[in-house]
Amino acid sequence: MAYIFNGTSYVCVDDFHQAAKNIIPKAALGYLEAGAEEEITLRDNLNSYNKYLINPRLLVDITSIDTSSYILGHKVSMPISIAPTAMHRLAHDQGEAGTARAAYKAGVAMCLSSYSTVSIEDVAESCHFKGVRFFQLYFNKNREITANLLKRAKANGYLAVALTIDTQVVGIRRADEHNKFSLPPIHELANFKWKPLSEVFHFPFDIQFYYALCEAFFRTKQMKMPRAPT
Ligand SMILES: Cc1cc2nc3c(=O)[nH]c(=O)nc-3n(C[C@H](O)[C@H](O)[C@H](O)COP(=O)(O)O)c2cc1C
Repeated sequence: MAYIFNGTSYVCVDDFHQAAKNIIPKAALGYLEAGAEEEITLRDNLNSYNKYLINPRLLVDITSIDTSSYILGHKVSMPISIAPTAMHRLAHDQGEAGTARAAYKAGVAMCLSSYSTVSIEDVAESCHFKGVRFFQLYFNKNREITANLLKRAKANGYLAVALTIDTQVVGIRRADEHNKFSLPPIHELANFKWKPLSEVFHFPFDIQFYYALCEAFFRTKQMKMPRAPT
């Protein structure tokens, strides 16, 4: 099914990607689409999808198809969640509010980044406090900041927290260096209005806390923790 906008038809994700290249300013596009260093992992991630093949089930009655599923006990139209990515307003003025509305309309889940350019509250309001919404947390070294984020996420109907543990340092991103990309003014990181940049970023990780949390998680699941940090 094609999506027609301003006379152009879009039939696949790549069509939107190509259109974005013509609309989004170069430095912002570099941040959004480039990976770190030689982009080996980025290419591997994309290529890994080619390993999945559709295995058609033959002679099956398809008059009524239901792709709906459950994510953490909440019904979704298909088993898809939009991953947390920072700063959607770099790509479109509506930012994360537009993403959340689209996810809600499509009946899929969305995870809002801590570093969003629309606040926790405004994103919730944009879809009338409905939808399957999760909140991604960078655990700030100042626990008051973290507690504030979590309270606001809970009060605004975010159903779960996705705790990011893999961004101890930011990769060397060549596109950002070439384009002299810099973060937008701090008030645009909407969840931390008026806080200095040094307070907003979570580096270095509160590793003791993460470790305790992971241990507790594996204990409740009665699983062995895979590997202790050194
Ligand atoms: C532009 C961009 C911004 C991102 N921002 C965040 C973020 O704020 N928080 C986070 O936990 N992950 C962030 N990610 C990581 C994504 O959520 C996701 O884990 C990553 O793109 C890998 O997804 P894949 O394994 O499905 O390819 C970001 C990724 C991109 C490309």
